[in-house]
This record gives sequence, C-alpha cells and structure tokens, in this order.
Amino acid sequence: MYFLGIDLGTSSVKIIIMDESGKVVNTATKNFEISYPHIGWAEQNPDDWWDGTKEGIKEIIKLSGLKSDEIKGIGFSGQMHGLVLLDKDNKVLMPAILWCDQRTQEECEYLNNVIGQDKLSKYTANMALTGFTAPKVLWVKKHKPDIYNKIYKIMLPKDYIRFKLTGLFATDVSDASGTLMFDVKNRKWSKEMLKILEINEEVLPKVFESYQVTGRVCIEAAKVTGLSTETLVVAGAGDQAAGAVGTGTVDSGVVSVALGTSGVVFACDKKFSVDSKNRLHSFCHANGRYHQMGVMLSAASCLQWWNDNINLDTMENSFEVLLTEAENSVAGSKGLIYLPYLMGERTPYSDPDAKGAFIGLNITHTRGDMTRSVLEGVCFGLRDSLEILKSMGVEVKEVRVSGGGSKSTLWKQILASVFNLKVSSINSKEGPAYGAAILAAVGCGLYDNVDDACNSLIKITDIIMPIEKDVDKYDKTYKVYASLYGCLKDKFKELSELDSKED
Ligand code: XUL
Repeated sequence: MYFLGIDLGTSSVKIIIMDESGKVVNTATKNFEISYPHIGWAEQNPDDWWDGTKEGIKEIIKLSGLKSDEIKGIGFSGQMHGLVLLDKDNKVLMPAILWCDQRTQEECEYLNNVIGQDKLSKYTANMALTGFTAPKVLWVKKHKPDIYNKIYKIMLPKDYIRFKLTGLFATDVSDASGTLMFDVKNRKWSKEMLKILEINEEVLPKVFESYQVTGRVCIEAAKVTGLSTETLVVAGAGDQAAGAVGTGTVDSGVVSVALGTSGVVFACDKKFSVDSKNRLHSFCHANGRYHQMGVMLSAASCLQWWNDNINLDTMENSFEVLLTEAENSVAGSKGLIYLPYLMGERTPYSDPDAKGAFIGLNITHTRGDMTRSVLEGVCFGLRDSLEILKSMGVEVKEVRVSGGGSKSTLWKQILASVFNLKVSSINSKEGPAYGAAILAAVGCGLYDNVDDACNSLIKITDIIMPIEKDVDKYDKTYKVYASLYGCLKDKFKELSELDSKED
C-alpha cells in the first residue's frame, strides 16, 4: 500500500509517496509563479497549480515504478485562505487571490468595526484579517461585480486540485476555519456569517474532517495523471494543520514552530478556546480537535532578505558565513534589537503598515551582531504568540521545530533560550506533505486515527535545551522588543503614506 501527499504551497506543489511503514520513497516538486499586479496584491492561476500537480503525479509514479492500483489514497495540504471562483461551467473566473494579498483592508475594517469583531468572534472564533477569504469575497463584490454575479462555486486552493482529481466540491474543517465563514466550534459553515456576507451555502463546498474520504479519482483525472479510479481521496488540511500532523503536534503540551518564509507557533488544544482579543487564530485541527495559531509574516525570509538584499552575498556558502559570524556574537547581540515586520505583521498586531528595523545600533556593532539580532528578532516575534498561548492557559512543554530555518542549530538554540523550553527536531523532513500522506493513510484505514498514526511514525531525533544564562538575558531583551512596536506604530503608518505618495 502506498499513499500520496500533495502539498500545494505558494511557490510550488510538492508530492511525496509514502509506503505502509511511513517511509517516503519518492518526491517530486513543480514550481509556479506568483503575480503581483499591484503593490500588496498577490495572485496565481489555479490552472498552473493543476498543471504542476498533474505533471508531478505522472513523474512520481514513473520514478517509483509503482502500478497505479498500489496507490491506495491521496491526502492534501494547501496554502490557506486563497479565493478561487468558478462559474457554472466550472471555469475559473479570475486569478486566485492568495493568503498574502493585502488588498482587503477596507473590507476588514467594515467587518471588524461595522459588523463588529465581537460578532465575528462569536460566529467564527476569529476576527477579519486581510489574508482571510471572506473579505476577499466582499472585495470582488465591490470591485468586480460582473465576476461576482457569475460565481457558482467558492473554494480554497487545494480544493481546486481535489475538484480536478475527483470532480467533487469538498473541503476540510481546518482549511474552512481560515475563511471567516466557518463556525469553528461546531465544525460547520456559519449560517450567521453567510447571512452577513449574503452568501448562499450551496456556493460553498461540503465540509469533511481532514482524515475522511471525500471521493475517488475520476476517469478524466486518471487518464491525465496515470492514477487509478480506485484511489481514495481524503479531505486533507490547511498547510499549518497538515504540517502539525507531519511533526506529530496532535496533543496538548507540544507546540510546533515553523521557521519557514512565515513563522508559525501552533498548539493543539483538546478544548475549544478563543483569545479574548483574537490575536491568535482559533481553528479546527486535522485530528478532530482544535488548534491555536500565531502567524508571523516574515521569519526565515528575514535571513534570506539579510543575505540577498543587504549583504548582496552571492557566495555559495554565504548563509554559513553569516551564521558563523552570528555564533561568534553574544546573546542579546550587544544591545541590538531587530524588528522582523518586513511585510507588515499578522500576529499579534494585524498591521500591514508595520515595518522592519534595527534598534540600538552603535559603532562597535559588526555584521555578526546584526545577523544574530535578525535571528533573535524572529524568535522574539514567535515568543509574542507563545505569551498569548500561555495567557490562555494552553499547556506548553515542548517545541517541535520545522521549516528551512530549522536547518540552523544556532537558530534552534536561540529559540530554546528565548522560549525557555526544549526544542526538538523530528525524523521527517517533508513537512506538510508528510502530514497529508498520513491523513491519506488514516482515511484508508491503515491507522484508527491521526494520533495513533503520528505516535507510530514521528520520532524525535534531536533535542536542544535552553542555555540558562541566556534565558535571563533574552527575557529582559524580549520585554524591550515587545514595547517597541507600540512606540513606532504611528511612525510606520506615516512612512507608508509617504511611500505611497512617491509611487
Ligand atoms: C496560515 C497562512 C499560511 C498560508 C501559506 O494562516 O496564512 O500558512 O497558508 O502558507
């Protein structure tokens, strides 16, 4: 028995084949473009996703030499919140508006202030954020009425791939949670919210738990991919919930931190709970429970920016050089603090105008100190989410780290000391795609449930403990860090206004 995990990311689709023992036997990745038609907009063509997925599936089946009927199930992980619109002939009506698109500030202000954040929180457990799906629907209604009037189906990115593979309209509870149209507590579309948005429930896909089977591969898709029509397709999950399954973050006490382009602090919660200010997202988890999540918009991308745009370092080992210099600096980077808000910030400020900064520079600072403060600033940003989790009474005993940034031992060490928690790495390096394959295995009956699957497949390979003397230093530095946004908030807005006047 083999299982496919399809992770529809923002820059590529990654497909893995996992065998019955949980071993990944092959992987294939196909890249696609993002277009930025205006400042703050981000779009993709859903058919590019499908073309990449089709090609990737064909390639991986060939590579593995498997017969199509040996692939029992397919699971998904998907970039969340994106808006895909189809007309009555199932044709894509306009490019998908992505999770990182910021065009809906006005719609969010309307939802949070006129409809009211308390109502949104009561109906959906969340507040309106520019990345979420519902404000995008309102944007289309206002700015593209011709398209709005032709809408037959509204769906999320990975669910478009499911539609092409099965011919069915379905989604899962974790991804639906990020639409602001979903009653997270009761795991169903929110009638109240749909009324506010004037959306008919028939326009939305049917909702399943992430591990449930939604259908089988259809004849057309079997022809173009080489898959069998016997292969089951499970609901799958949003990329963060799938990633958490892939790191075994399925029970209370374990928190996963993704140090990817964005930075995510993710905690599984047995009970349903909501932060009183909605600073964290309260979503359904892929294992039947709930989760709390804080999302920083720039995490590992801060180091990438520091390397590519500032140090202009094209040497093959430039990251290694920068990280070695940072290791030779000291905890606290000699009084230097970096603010990581390169693309505005989501958690905890929900502010598209927030900006990056180095605060505290003096004449003795070196590049090593500055690199270290970039690493530390990202960890402080993550700690903002950890502090909210703790204030909600969520139990945190261990951190599991994944994503590109987790390749750096120094970064993990800083994280351990900033969080004052042990940081572990796990055996799988495949992230959300692995979680997607696990969900397929559960849906096909190989495991009784997601928790059992994770307990038998995910193993800890390495643990980093906090360094005691750094913990105190970081505690004090974090307090300064946490106060800086409030001091600069208005200035960030003024700078945005100045910048937009120059366009
Ligand atoms: C989650 C989020 C990102 C996107 C893209 O809320 O915005 O994880 O799904 O990866």
